[in-house]
Amino acid sequence: MTKWVRAHTNIALIKYWGKENEELIIPKNNSLSLTLDAFYTDTRVTFDQSLVEDELILDGEKQPHSALGKVQTVLNSVREQAGITSPALVESINHVPTAAGLASSASGLAALAGAASQAAGLKLSQEELSKLARRGSGSASRSIYGGFAEWIKGTDDATSFAVPVDDANWDIGMLFIIVNDAVKEVSSRDGMKRTVETSAFYEGWLKTLDADLKAMKQAISEKNVESVGQIAERNALKMHATTLAANPPFTYWTAESMKAMDAVRALRKKGFTAYFTMDAGPNVKIVCKQSEMTGIKDFLLTHFEADQLIEARPGPGIHTLEQ
Ligand code: PMV
Repeated sequence: MTKWVRAHTNIALIKYWGKENEELIIPKNNSLSLTLDAFYTDTRVTFDQSLVEDELILDGEKQPHSALGKVQTVLNSVREQAGITSPALVESINHVPTAAGLASSASGLAALAGAASQAAGLKLSQEELSKLARRGSGSASRSIYGGFAEWIKGTDDATSFAVPVDDANWDIGMLFIIVNDAVKEVSSRDGMKRTVETSAFYEGWLKTLDADLKAMKQAISEKNVESVGQIAERNALKMHATTLAANPPFTYWTAESMKAMDAVRALRKKGFTAYFTMDAGPNVKIVCKQSEMTGIKDFLLTHFEADQLIEARPGPGIHTLEQ
């Protein structure tokens, strides 16, 4: 019997936004993230000759074949490396609070890379696992590691993978404000493609990234939450600005996202260390000190419902579950 593998999600503080190579998922820029304890995926893979085709059971429900795209990219790579031809049964459970509306591709594809390579008997290094996860979803390359990780963009399949930066075993955390939206989603894949191809601001975004990354690594080495937050917020706003200059233009923000951003600015006026970041959706994530989370939550409860607020702390890297 193969074992379950657990991977946690990560949130980028320096965003990955745009691909150099669409098929291999080679990014335009390096990115840097924090892996979190609150959201994770457990996955088990069994290669089975008696199956007619690959099957994905997600949270107990069999998924249509059309939903298997990214999953099969990872499975095919594992089959090729291990010389296996059998179809695979993939069982996956997402531990993401219901209605959270959070993408689970980072934890999901990282857990799949770990579970599939283990089931195939491949003994992959963390670097190799990161490359494999990357083929499923770019951000998954970073979920191999706990704490802070940097995805080095590289130039081809062999050179594009994430590396650990810092275990984040200090006073930093993230508080999620879940915004319930009715907005039509543009997937991260489509959103970044449209931005790279059409946004007048895309070149400007790329030009500033080396400086952001350098400053972020310095702030992390100093365990300076204030600076980490400031750089992350600036970087996220710049990324979201590129979507406004795309053709056709789009945004992931809703009125509720703006309300959440305002609340974070109000927190700062009250003396809290609090900065926001956002991804390809309307939810707002606050970079803060763990030691201030209770106070921050108390303030936010005057603007939001309790079930909209989720606390997260630095989480571990990918690992096998013993039972
Ligand atoms: O890995 P993907 O295709 O889900 O893209 C992730 C893109 C962002 O979340 C917006 C940024 C990032 O670096 O995670």
